[in-house]
Amino acid sequence: MCGIVGYIGDKQAYPILINGLKRLEYRGYDSAGVALLNGKVDVYKCKGKVADLEDFIGKKPIDSKIGIAHTRWATHGEPNNVNAHPHYSQNNDLAIIHNGIIENYASIKKELINRGYVFESDTDSEVLIYLIEDIQKNEQVNLFEAVRIALNQVIGAYAIVIVSKHEPNLLVAARKGSPLVIGVGKGEYFLASDASPIIEYTKHVVYLEDEDVALIKKDEPLVVKTVKNKDKTPYVQELELNINQLEKGGFEHFMLKEIYEQPKSIRDSFRGRLNLEQNLISMGGMIEYEHKLKNAKRIIIIACGTSWHAGLVGEYLFEDLARIPVEVEYASEFRYRNPVLSEDDIVIAISQSGETADTLAAIELAKSKGATIFGVCNVVGSSIARATHAGAFTHAGPEIGVASTKAFTAQVTVLTLMALHLAQSRGTISTTRFHEIITELNIIPEKVEKTLKTSSQVKEIAERFKDVANFLYLGRGYNFPVALEGALKLKEISYIHAEGYPAAEMKHGPIALIDEDMPVVFIATNRGTYEKVVSNIMEVKARKGKIIAIVTEGDTEVKELADYVIEIPETEEMLVPLLATIPLQKLSYHIAVKRGCNVDQPRNLAKSVTVE
Ligand code: F6R
Repeated sequence: MCGIVGYIGDKQAYPILINGLKRLEYRGYDSAGVALLNGKVDVYKCKGKVADLEDFIGKKPIDSKIGIAHTRWATHGEPNNVNAHPHYSQNNDLAIIHNGIIENYASIKKELINRGYVFESDTDSEVLIYLIEDIQKNEQVNLFEAVRIALNQVIGAYAIVIVSKHEPNLLVAARKGSPLVIGVGKGEYFLASDASPIIEYTKHVVYLEDEDVALIKKDEPLVVKTVKNKDKTPYVQELELNINQLEKGGFEHFMLKEIYEQPKSIRDSFRGRLNLEQNLISMGGMIEYEHKLKNAKRIIIIACGTSWHAGLVGEYLFEDLARIPVEVEYASEFRYRNPVLSEDDIVIAISQSGETADTLAAIELAKSKGATIFGVCNVVGSSIARATHAGAFTHAGPEIGVASTKAFTAQVTVLTLMALHLAQSRGTISTTRFHEIITELNIIPEKVEKTLKTSSQVKEIAERFKDVANFLYLGRGYNFPVALEGALKLKEISYIHAEGYPAAEMKHGPIALIDEDMPVVFIATNRGTYEKVVSNIMEVKARKGKIIAIVTEGDTEVKELADYVIEIPETEEMLVPLLATIPLQKLSYHIAVKRGCNVDQPRNLAKSVTVE
């Protein structure tokens, strides 16, 4: 969702800004623009992709060593040339790029209109830069002060960067609720929504905190204050990211690369935590809150989208292994309810990006009610990672494809470790059983590798069903969240309508949809409920539905019934999601490719959803 890039230094800004925007394309956007400072502020922007912006700029003057750039994901106002960022101030002296939403923009806009200002766009961002200019004019303050004063008047979320014709040697940046990273080079600074545009220039970064305002001048130390005018000392961190992680590495799409990275990302997520010799799991993040976690009366998992599906797998794991009651909540619903929470509750917030606005708000709510918040995040330094009391990173590496794949299996891996660890400390699992499961978890990456190889018939299935209008995904127990995740993957990248259901629920409604045109994907690996799933398959078959079944190697019964079969290696029931998800990811990928869809940047979607 919206991407920010900025540069100030001795290099030409334009190529850095354009490359930076390209690195941020994965976040999802519908227009792009740059502002370059060279005696005056030149803004170039248009609807469409960064490549369209480059075409539009063509031979226009781009000579500048200071500039800002933006990819916009429309919220206020349709995606068009006028609403694209950067936005000029009324007299074109300033330009702003903004991520987030200024909630009270309408009242500020009304006030400014009354004072004679004329707006061009429908955006809340333009209101903010007009307000800043108005403050500068009325209070005779410099840009930094005007920004700080203005931010005291706005309600909402923002990451902003501003350039000024009258102060050509600086950038002013600020954040609240939307991420902003400053790369610290030698006499130069790079700004971005995340570290991916920065990593090729410097590993040293400062993550701005909420309500920080930064004054960025080349060859001078960074100055950071809060909006309330308190001085702060910027904390420079070293990035662990490496540039190869941001490239496609020979794959046609990031999504495919990330699907194939799963043996590694799963292993990285348990590496150093799973100790077979000593028969234990050690997770640094759990140590400080060990007592609370062990004695938790209840676990509440909050997340959105795919992370919510991982949370559902977590529910089965924690209840099965550690015997703690679990509720899994959509963060967006949880935050607007009046949830009953106590100090004995543990809230686990799951997020790949660590920036999801609803999850972040749900965390703040839970914190205010005294709960202990444990984060399961992929992005180090992200807002959620910093907002939680403790946590465990997923170590999946950067996920660029908008459709989440390796982050999901990494989340499930970390939740498995947590559930096992709690089971051991609460005495709800025998030593032998614990050893059996961790031994199996240790070899799961090899089984994922095998699943990736053996699911080659997925392409054939994709060819057969690429033009259908609907898909149904059914599973029970641990495979129910897998069914939901399979359906989400398909709809988000191929735009085919897909529903996931618990298999036994089919007869309570979705069965009405079944006819000879309806493909139904069954995840039929369960041990306990195998026969019941077989009955559900029969019910679909009787209505001429087309059956695609994920089965355990060596299965014979379902094979007889299904039109298409994909085998996965035998494993512990609770670890099946780590394998069964793989062919479903591949199925949606191949269907989307065959339908000519933009796999890595599906329409309307954003990678990190920083607005509610
Ligand atoms: C689906 C997908 C989204 C995210 C959701 C939460 O493929 O990527 O559903 O899972 O937006 O995002 P995070 O995990 O970053 O909080």
